[in-house]
Amino acid sequence: MPSCPPSANTPSVYDHLPRFIAHRGASGHAPENTAAAIAKAHELGATWAEVDVTISADGEAVIFHDHKLERCSNGRGLIIQQPLADLKTLDAGSWFSPFYKEEKILTLSELLSLADDLNLSLNIEIKPTIGREWETVQAMQSAFRDTAFSQHILLSSFNERALCYAAELLPQFDRGLNVEAIPADWQKRLKQCLATGLHFQLDFFDGGVIRQLREQGVPLACFTVNNIVDAQRLWEAGVNAVFTDYIERLRITP
Ligand code: G3P
Ligand code: MG
Repeated sequence: MPSCPPSANTPSVYDHLPRFIAHRGASGHAPENTAAAIAKAHELGATWAEVDVTISADGEAVIFHDHKLERCSNGRGLIIQQPLADLKTLDAGSWFSPFYKEEKILTLSELLSLADDLNLSLNIEIKPTIGREWETVQAMQSAFRDTAFSQHILLSSFNERALCYAAELLPQFDRGLNVEAIPADWQKRLKQCLATGLHFQLDFFDGGVIRQLREQGVPLACFTVNNIVDAQRLWEAGVNAVFTDYIERLRITP
């Protein structure tokens, strides 16, 4: 594991996190991680959106959840084996509905411009191919260097190596560690990748563990929460934010 710089950012971007974040954009209403999903999230009242970033064969940061193209486009095979020019020919919307047949895979730069125009802050989840973590974070660094963005950014990943590289190449942004269940050695894990927050999966909610983490001041986020009953339970337990595919279901509270 690469070594990390010595400190986290103060103040923390977690101080600005809203109670709900549009997961992959408004992915219940539009094809995930596309411009349409980002625009819909804004239209539904989201102030933050979460997206997934990986790289093309020629090292461009692109917004896509899976390593393979099949589920969310009409392409085939691994996204990392195809250059951006080829990825840009794909239809990234028809799998969701014919209405979205014009949607394209976005580059990170395009996403930043779009989100900035909408005053939308971003949680960018790094989804590197294993072994390509450095190239993925480097591609992100290039996109941030080339694109003006004035909203908040929070980086996150399940991949601790990617978080360490992010601490090195993009130290201006806070980092969250994504996990399914919160590990018993969470303190060590956060320290190793210099993440300040933990983002966990709803199925593994445990009120006792959440209480301990809150007492230690660890910011928490939970995915994916699509009903208000679960959201209320999490907020009352002290979870700062929940990721949702359906902003309108959770918007009923401030
Ligand atoms: O970042 C929160 C959540 O998006 C993590 O899981 O698979 O939806 O990217 P996934
Ligand atoms: Mg994600």
